[in-house]
Amino acid sequence: MDVSKEQIDALTKELQDHAYRYYVLDEPVIDDAAYDKKLRELQELEAAYPEYKQEDSPTERVGGEPLDQFKKVRHEIPMMSLSNAFNAEELREFDRRVREGLGEEASYSCELKFDGLAVTLKYENGRFVQGATRGDGTTGEDITANLRTIPSIPLKLQKPVTIEVRGEAFMPKASFERLNQAREAQGEALFANPRNAAAGSLRQLDPKIAADRHLNIFIYAVASLEEDGPDTHTEALAYAAELGFHVNKETKQAASIDEVIAVCEAWEDKRSELPYEIDGVVVKVDNLEAQEQLGYTAKSPRWATAYKFPAEEVTTVLRDIELSIGRTGAVTPTAILDPVPVAGTTVQRASLHNEDLIREQDVKIGDRIVIKKAGDIIPKVVRVLTEERTGDEIDFHMPDTCPECGEELVRIEGEVALRCVNPLCPAQIREGLIHFVSRNAMNIDGLGEKVITQLFDHDLVRSVADLYRLEKESLLQLDRMGEKSTENLLQAIEVSKENPLDKLLFGLGIRFVGSKGAETLAAEFRTMERLQQAELDELTAVHDIGEKMADAVVTYFQQETVQQLIDELRSLGLNMSYAGTEAAEVDEDSAFSGKTFVLTGSMDAMSRSEAKKEIEARGGKVTSSVTSKTDVVIAGEKAGSKQRKAEELEIPVWDEEAFTSRLD
Ligand code: IVH
Repeated sequence: MDVSKEQIDALTKELQDHAYRYYVLDEPVIDDAAYDKKLRELQELEAAYPEYKQEDSPTERVGGEPLDQFKKVRHEIPMMSLSNAFNAEELREFDRRVREGLGEEASYSCELKFDGLAVTLKYENGRFVQGATRGDGTTGEDITANLRTIPSIPLKLQKPVTIEVRGEAFMPKASFERLNQAREAQGEALFANPRNAAAGSLRQLDPKIAADRHLNIFIYAVASLEEDGPDTHTEALAYAAELGFHVNKETKQAASIDEVIAVCEAWEDKRSELPYEIDGVVVKVDNLEAQEQLGYTAKSPRWATAYKFPAEEVTTVLRDIELSIGRTGAVTPTAILDPVPVAGTTVQRASLHNEDLIREQDVKIGDRIVIKKAGDIIPKVVRVLTEERTGDEIDFHMPDTCPECGEELVRIEGEVALRCVNPLCPAQIREGLIHFVSRNAMNIDGLGEKVITQLFDHDLVRSVADLYRLEKESLLQLDRMGEKSTENLLQAIEVSKENPLDKLLFGLGIRFVGSKGAETLAAEFRTMERLQQAELDELTAVHDIGEKMADAVVTYFQQETVQQLIDELRSLGLNMSYAGTEAAEVDEDSAFSGKTFVLTGSMDAMSRSEAKKEIEARGGKVTSSVTSKTDVVIAGEKAGSKQRKAEELEIPVWDEEAFTSRLD
C-alpha cells in the first residue's frame, strides 16, 4: 500500500481515538498541544494527498463552506417539550399521576437538564447524515454542517446502525467565559449566557464559527429503537454510549419519588460545581414499556417531567454606583459589586434601573445585597440585607447635571428616568454610534464599543456619516488595529451600505422605532424619500404604527440636522430603499402583493410564523383580526371564529392547499 495512504489512515484512526477519549469518555491520554500538533500533521498530509482523505476525518471538524440558508427538516418523530415541576410537592403530584396511569410504582432515571439547544442526530449505517434543531417541534432547521464541527458528535459510530438520537448541544462554562472575554476585547456584543452562545453559534450559516466555539453535546434519548432493543431508558443510554455518543455520567436511578426529590435537591446545591450549566433535573420513568403505556399529551410525554431550579441568588457588597448616559440621554445607575460567581459567570455589575427603584429598594453604597441572574448579562438586585448594616453605608443621590457634558438633567413628565437633553452630549453621540453599528441595525463586524470609543476619542468620527469617510491611515493609528483588521473593517463598512432601509432606519435611533417598527415603516413606505415626506395621518393609518411612533417619525425628519445627515448618507452611497433590489423584484401581480391576510387554524406544511414570512416575502401583509380591510383569510385545520367572520364579511377564504399552491 502507498505509504502516504497508510500514514493518513493511521493518523486518522489515532486522532479519532484521542478525540473519543477526550470528548466522549472525558479521559484524555495526550494533552491539547500534542493533539493539535498531530491534527496539523494530518491536515498537511490530506492537503498533499486529498484522494486519501477519509470522509470522517477529524480535520472535518474545522467547518466547511458557508451556506446560504438552512434547509427545513420535518421530524418524523416529533421533538416534544417537558412538563415542569417547581418544588417537591409538584414532583409528588407527577409521581401520583404516573402511578395512577400504570397501576403500580415506577422507578425513575434522574438526569441533569442541560441548558443548551435541543438537537436531533440521524445516522445511516453508522454514518452521521443529518442533524437538526427542534424548531417548533415538528419542523426544525438542518444544521448538519455546524454539528459536524462538535468533536463529541461521532461522524462514524462503533457499529453500522441506522439510528436517530436526541441531545442537548451546549457551551461549557469555561468556553463561554473565554468567548465573552474575546468579544469584549473586540468590542462585540456579549452573549447573555452559555445557552444563547451555543444557540447563536449553531445558527450561523458559516460552520467555521461553530467550529471555533468549543461546543459539546450530551445525548439524552434514543428516538428510534428496534423491536428487540433495550427494556429501559438507562439501557438505551448505555447502548448510545457503546455506539460512541457522549452520554452524561451523573444520571442516577431512583426507586421512589423520595429518592428523586433527594437527587433534585442535591443538584440544586451542587450545580455551580459542574463545568457546564444546568437549569434543573429531568425525571423519566425508566421502563420503556411503562413509558409507552403512559403516552403523551399534545405537548409533552406523561412519563417525564423537568424539575426546574429557581434562579440562582448570591450575596455580595455594593461598592459604588456608576452612571451611564444612553443614546436617548437617559441616565442609568449601575451597581459596581465585589466580583462574585453566579450561574456560571463572574458578576461585577448589577442593574439599578433608576433613582426611584434605588429609593424603593433602599440601596446604599457599602450595603450587602442579594443579586440574581435571570437570563440577562447584567443581574438584578433582589434585596438589601439591611440587617447587616454597620452604619457606614452611604446614601446615593442622583446628580443635577450630566456627568458627561455638564448640562442640567431633566425629568420628563411621565418618565422615571432622568435625561440629558443636550443633543451634542458626547456620551449620547457615542452610544448612538454603537447602536448604529450593532447587529440588528447596520451590523458592521469589527466595530464594537471599544473601537467606536477610540474613534470618538481620536475625533475621527462625530456622526454616523463619518463612519463612511474613514480611511485606512487613520484606522491604523488605533490600538489593536493591524493591516488585516483595518481592511476587514473597511470592507464591513462598505458592505453595510447595501443594507435594506429597515436596518438603516433602526440604526438611526428614532425614538420609539424598534427593529420591528423599522421593518413596518420600510415595508410600507419602501424608500427613505417617501418616509421623509410621510404625514402624521399617513403613518397612523398603517397597521402596527401607533400615535407615539408616528409622531416621533414626523418630528425626527423635520429636524434640519437630520435632513442634512440623510443627504450626506445618500451621497456617501447608502442604500435607501427596502430590501435593496429585492423590493423591485416583488411581483406586483402576485396573489400576495399589496394584500392583507389573516392566518387562522394550523397548517401541516408550516407554522404560522413561517406562513407569515412567505406572505411578507411576496409583498403581502399579515394582520391578526378579520376586518373589512382583510383581503384573504387563510384557514388551516380547526379554524374557528375568524373563518366564520370572513364568511360573514364575504372575504375569500383559502385552505392550506389553496395557499401553498400559490407560493410557487
Ligand atoms: S428529555 C420528550 N432530557 O429540555 C422530551 N431533555 O423541554 C424529551 N433537555 O429542549 C426531552 N436536558 O433539549 C431531556 N436530560 C434531558 C435534557 C433535556 C435538557 C432539554 C431538551 C428540551 C427541553 C425539554
